Amino acid sequence: MSADLIVGLQWGDEGKGKVVDLLARDYDFVVRYQGGHNAGHTIVIGEQKYALSLIPSGVLSDTTKNIIANGLVVYPPALIKEIEQFGVLDERLFISSRAHLILDYHIATDKAKEERAKSGAIGTTGRGIGPAYADKISRVGMRMADLLDPQSLVKKIKAHFAFNEAYFKDLGIGEFDEEKYTKDIEFFSQKLSSYIVDTRSLIYEQIKSKTFLLEGAQGTMLDIDHGTYPFVTSSSTVAAGACIGTGLSPKDIGKVFGIIKAYATRVGNGIFPTQDDGEDGELIAQRGKEFGTVTKRKRRCGWFDASVARFAVRVNGVDEVCLMKLDVLDGFEKIKVCTHYELNGKKIDDFVEGAVCVYKEFDGWDKTQGLTNWDDLPENAKKYISALEDLMGARVSIVSTGPKRSETIFR
Ligand code: IMP
Repeated sequence: MSADLIVGLQWGDEGKGKVVDLLARDYDFVVRYQGGHNAGHTIVIGEQKYALSLIPSGVLSDTTKNIIANGLVVYPPALIKEIEQFGVLDERLFISSRAHLILDYHIATDKAKEERAKSGAIGTTGRGIGPAYADKISRVGMRMADLLDPQSLVKKIKAHFAFNEAYFKDLGIGEFDEEKYTKDIEFFSQKLSSYIVDTRSLIYEQIKSKTFLLEGAQGTMLDIDHGTYPFVTSSSTVAAGACIGTGLSPKDIGKVFGIIKAYATRVGNGIFPTQDDGEDGELIAQRGKEFGTVTKRKRRCGWFDASVARFAVRVNGVDEVCLMKLDVLDGFEKIKVCTHYELNGKKIDDFVEGAVCVYKEFDGWDKTQGLTNWDDLPENAKKYISALEDLMGARVSIVSTGPKRSETIFR
């Protein structure tokens, strides 16, 4: 069988969690393939709230098994806390022995580098993501498999501190605390060892007869290669990253669902062509509750950027688009969409210094909030969606009209 894929088409926070939650029950396995606890969403089911950062959203469906695959960087205390929300997850959660560990020195390095960079800071989540991936690429990372032998891991960490002594001292990371690391690693090992497996073999075996949903984190414009570098995260957030992050081949990928909001947001620094610093942007932020679930930072808000969307549809090979948070635009008299960029009067693909956004205005509508039928959408909302489809070059198959599972239109 093949593996379907969910990918964010903007700068993250598109609402992937809701879509995975909606679709997960139709799949036997849900797999996270990149990123770490920089991602995060809260899912509300009845009175119960679940905060998920590392565990795939399939955990909320009793019949779905969940995999944290090799492409992730895992901070054990965050994962242990998440697992505890569900008691234990034996036979429902599998963690790749090849996933890399985030340890306290990665977090300290991330924060120290950001502080030192001052105005040039990336605006990271401060979760140690960049330094952990940097160690992976430098071939000096520690992996989940290392947790199976705590004593050897502590020795490796000690050697890592010794090798980086001058660098760590300069950044103010502090000295190696053997007692603390020994205690921590033994605890992580005790809590997590039973979940650690060769997920690649598991996936190869199971994909013969079972269905898979691959859950991307962050979004296309935060991709290390294809995003707004250097203001990006440190992993491959695009669809192709799913192969690297799981061990699946491109031939295993089935349908690609692209998740996009009806407007745009970005958290952290870096270019954001359609940002609206006026009343409209503020209204979108308030109505869309655009505050980070991980860092609580206020997100920058603006209008739908069709140039970004076109690129994201292309680079990810999107089959179907899920248009999220349409209801946030309810009540706007006019809604703007950036159709393309121009530099000195010429159409360009990538936004550069001096370029401008060219906008088209659409008439607004009264209310879409809570609608569940396509036919009930106001005509202007349908026109808006249809224009986005033409601009993106992809069909919208799901429209979200509110945070609840039920507030969804399947077209
Ligand atoms: P890092 O991933 O913590 O290194 O942060 C790098 C950039 O990615 C920063 O601009 C973060 O705000 C952004 N970022 C990381 N994770 C997310 C996410 O889940 N949603 C939105 N932005 C994110």
